[in-house]
Amino acid sequence: MQTNCRRKRTAVLISGRGSNMQALVERARVPSFPAEIALVLSNRPEAAGLAFARANDVACAAVDHKIYAGREEFERSMQALLELHRIEIICLAGFMRLLTPSFIGQWQGRMLNIHPALLPAYRGLDTHARALADGVKIHGCTAHFVVPAMDEGPIVAQAAVAVLDGDTPETLAARVLEQEHLIYPAALERLAAGRLRIEGNRVYSDDPEGAPPALRNPEA
Ligand code: GRF
Repeated sequence: MQTNCRRKRTAVLISGRGSNMQALVERARVPSFPAEIALVLSNRPEAAGLAFARANDVACAAVDHKIYAGREEFERSMQALLELHRIEIICLAGFMRLLTPSFIGQWQGRMLNIHPALLPAYRGLDTHARALADGVKIHGCTAHFVVPAMDEGPIVAQAAVAVLDGDTPETLAARVLEQEHLIYPAALERLAAGRLRIEGNRVYSDDPEGAPPALRNPEA
């Protein structure tokens, strides 16, 4: 699977639970995976995900946004840590701070995000409740490149789940999260292996596996 011999040093930025970060760390344990998780950064010192990183010997640090006068100062601190750890790729994983266009520009084409909806539908927060309120039958998640506009940027991978009659935002979120944990490592794998090509808004990956069959809800 790996096309470059050196694994790409990857930082995962979190603010809380960190389950996507865990999924990335676990996939990157496979020696042939083309990225290694070299740093976990949180803007909240109390983030639960930091405990997982510590317990699993992954370098981690908190850069508490509250102690900085502004976004630029906060980002300068993060950038210094990213450089110190020779980071090449960033994965945002439940990172709840808006980043400035200047920071994003420095990481253009090298920073991914995971969003709990099928973009471009349901940008922003409370995606599962909004999808249920709209009565959609199919919902899902998206891994995409980060651009200055929030929850936009070329899409690398998506997964869809059927919305069930008895769903609450919580049950739907749980099924979508399972899919996030699958597509995010898959997206990082392709980026780190140099297998992605961005043209405009489209990302091509020459995927030998091909696409799975359609998801229909209800079944036709
Ligand atoms: C995930 O649903 C992700 O899509 C969104 O924030 C949530 C983070 O969850 N951006 P976790 O911290 O990865 O468990």
